[in-house]
Amino acid sequence: MTNKFSRRQFLKRSALAGIGITFIPNLLRGAANQVRVAHIGLGGMGNNHMNWFAGLPDVQIAALCDLDEDHLATTAKTLKTLRPELTFDTYGDFRRILERKDIDAITVATPDHWHAQIATLAFEAGKDVYGEKPLSYDIREGKMMLKSMNKNSRVFQLGTQIHAGDNYHRVVEIIKSGAIGKVHTVRLWKTGFSPGLGRPTVQTPPKTLNWDMWLGPAPYRDYFPERCHFTYRYFLDYSGGVFADFWCHIADVVWWAVQPKGLKSVVARGEKTDGVADAPKWLDADFEFDGLKLYWTSVAPDVPGAQGKGIGAYFEGDKGSLTCDYERRQININGETLTDLPNLAQTVERSPGHQQNFIDSVRSRKQPESNLGYAREMTLPMHLALASWRLNRKLEWNAGKEKVVKDKEAKALLAREYRKEWDLV
Ligand SMILES: NC(=O)c1ccc[n+]([C@@H]2O[C@H](COP(=O)([O-])OP(=O)(O)OC[C@H]3O[C@@H](n4cnc5c(N)ncnc54)[C@H](O)[C@@H]3O)[C@@H](O)[C@H]2O)c1
Repeated sequence: MTNKFSRRQFLKRSALAGIGITFIPNLLRGAANQVRVAHIGLGGMGNNHMNWFAGLPDVQIAALCDLDEDHLATTAKTLKTLRPELTFDTYGDFRRILERKDIDAITVATPDHWHAQIATLAFEAGKDVYGEKPLSYDIREGKMMLKSMNKNSRVFQLGTQIHAGDNYHRVVEIIKSGAIGKVHTVRLWKTGFSPGLGRPTVQTPPKTLNWDMWLGPAPYRDYFPERCHFTYRYFLDYSGGVFADFWCHIADVVWWAVQPKGLKSVVARGEKTDGVADAPKWLDADFEFDGLKLYWTSVAPDVPGAQGKGIGAYFEGDKGSLTCDYERRQININGETLTDLPNLAQTVERSPGHQQNFIDSVRSRKQPESNLGYAREMTLPMHLALASWRLNRKLEWNAGKEKVVKDKEAKALLAREYRKEWDLV
């Protein structure tokens, strides 16, 4: 297998296979009218993907892919038990899946540093994408994904499954109703530290793992298990620790309810871990938007309803406040503490389920609820906060031009260069 596989080669091969960018999805041609899905990345979250989509009546799982043969074999075994009637193929290289003209959509649950290239190549190959959070490794990648998705008329759903729950829908209704007035301050938090992971010694990668491909666009590094499955999230080459892991889940309700615009500046503080892991042990950040101040902390703030909650969002308006987590909410207005406003009508359409919403979008060609345009705006401040922490200075942001103001080092962090062999787009 050669690693060098450029976008041009890919398109050429796709075109030869008759799929190119004029690809007509299988679902439009009948084939029992099922959406044919392939799952890429089969660790913790990828197995959730497989289980969720296997349970949808109008989905046929056509392929599974992981560059770790053990993960691939385990998930294939589970799927065979779950859906014995299914025929599906297994792959170690996602590019073989993108070449197949009978696959309509993919899901991506690889580590963060692979999200953007896989999604972009999938768009080019005419596939829709259900991709995990965070949307991308950096800001440049988010832009690249959006451009490619629009150019190829694809749909994309970010894997923020909490978005589909009733609580976020209700919080959005309450905030948008004006019940707490105009929101001027938001506080988000997630408790818990990123671990340092000690000082592991370098090992030979297992024979069943394609380590070079796992590293992919990130710089080459020697292998030790802590750098790989699950704990990769505590290394800046691939992700951004607890902060980046949880940002999208809770920032989601804020971007939905108040749509922060006109970001002006970000300043982050934090601490390094005591081990080999270099993502922030904890990170706190202050964001200034047009008419809105937003704070992220690694401890619960001293506000009504926050005590004892490991993650949450607090909205402060000029008539009251609202605190929520994934499943609960507390409204404070007129000296009263409430969990709901019974007279407030339901105005936000409820979700059929996050994965079903994606499948419905594959059919209707309407963007799903947690679509790429939305996800990109919500994820961008997270990348800036990580860059501010890494550089230990405040970053000024020009929202109109989408550019960091006069800071070459920050600019470089927001648009990482790929390792040459794995620059596929
Ligand atoms: N939505 C959620 O609630 C939620 C929860 C957990 C994780 N996640 C996200 O899911 C993603 C995966 O997290 P995880 O905890 O499952 O990690 P993990 O390390 O357990 O699994 C990642 C899998 O991807 C495979 N992989 C890596 N590069 C690949 C490639 N190029 N092609 C095919 N397979 C590849 C790995 O071998 C591994 O099996 C992350 O982006 C994470 O943020 C989301």
